[in-house]
Amino acid sequence: MKRILTGVKPTGNGMHLWNYLGMYRPFVEKAQGNEAFLFLPDFHSLTSVHERDTLLRNKHRLAAELFALMPDDAPFMVFEQSQMSHINDITWILSSVTPYSLMLRAHSFKDSQNKNSDINMAVFNYPILMAADIIGYDTDIVPVWKDQQQHLEFARDIAWNFNKTYEVEFFKLPEAYIDEELALVPWIDGRKMSKSYDNFIWVFDDEKLLKKKIMSIVTGSETLEESKDPDSCNVFALMKFFASSERLQSIREKYLAGGYWYGHAKLELLEILLEYFGPARKKYELYMQNYSLVEEQLKVWNKRAEQLHCEKYNTLKKIVWLEK
Ligand code: ADP
Ligand code: TRP
Repeated sequence: MKRILTGVKPTGNGMHLWNYLGMYRPFVEKAQGNEAFLFLPDFHSLTSVHERDTLLRNKHRLAAELFALMPDDAPFMVFEQSQMSHINDITWILSSVTPYSLMLRAHSFKDSQNKNSDINMAVFNYPILMAADIIGYDTDIVPVWKDQQQHLEFARDIAWNFNKTYEVEFFKLPEAYIDEELALVPWIDGRKMSKSYDNFIWVFDDEKLLKKKIMSIVTGSETLEESKDPDSCNVFALMKFFASSERLQSIREKYLAGGYWYGHAKLELLEILLEYFGPARKKYELYMQNYSLVEEQLKVWNKRAEQLHCEKYNTLKKIVWLEK
């Protein structure tokens, strides 16, 4: 049995479609038959969120979403990073074997530096905390979207540096699991979905908002009667991820035959998404209305994660000669 772990930052309005496709679906695939953790890196969200209400709202929403999406046949545990007693101790010890020059190469840091004139130290240290998240639990596999690939390489480098410095085989070198097939799908305005462009489709957007966003997807300008090319259409590109192959085939035929308008396709996409996420959306409402159900279960899973992390930390302290 392997240990699978990944995290999704509680910064926006929960999970967007690309978190779902790029990280969540591969995670669930790997979770099957293994011990799997999907955690909320809430310390990481402090790099950008400093208001109480925003922080709590984002976290509650995301936790309820993860509970709602959990499949019966591939259960995983959800826990809160900030409830791990030694996460920052481990981060500190790891920073002591991490070259400054390595951190200067981080894309995430360079991106933030380009966007903000004054960035905080947590943004700089972000990848070390992320390494502690991963290697602090002897994680084998980390399903992530491509943009996290460098962070995973850092986690391996940091684990390797530590083992070499102290001449031990203490930290496992984690493997990233990245769905290379998932190409960037252009959407709405043809750009990648990004919080900076505010062009996300959130999995749990309410139906009205979901419809509004889908109706605004950029498409061709052919007339109703004209035949349309499904393979160059943003709406069809999204359908491909969520519709059955029979349904896709019949939609493809409608595109090619003409008499099928982009407006029809958009409504069909809405229907597909509502169908696909229907059961999860119902559960989500339930969890949001009874948030204590989530809180109670989080406590149980926090304990399990904490137990693993503490065991690792207790030995770690001895390796670095801070305890006998
Ligand atoms: P952040 O969530 O860190 O603010 P972005 O807003 O730039 O970063 O993007 C969020 C995430 O969405 C990316 O990390 C990536 O996982 C995913 N993503 C965004 N657009 C696409 C896309 N078109 N195809 C696949 N994944 C995407
Ligand atoms: N950096 C990740 C993101 O922005 C979130 C994250 C924090 C994470 N720690 C992690 C992901 C550990 C996987 C494993 O999406």
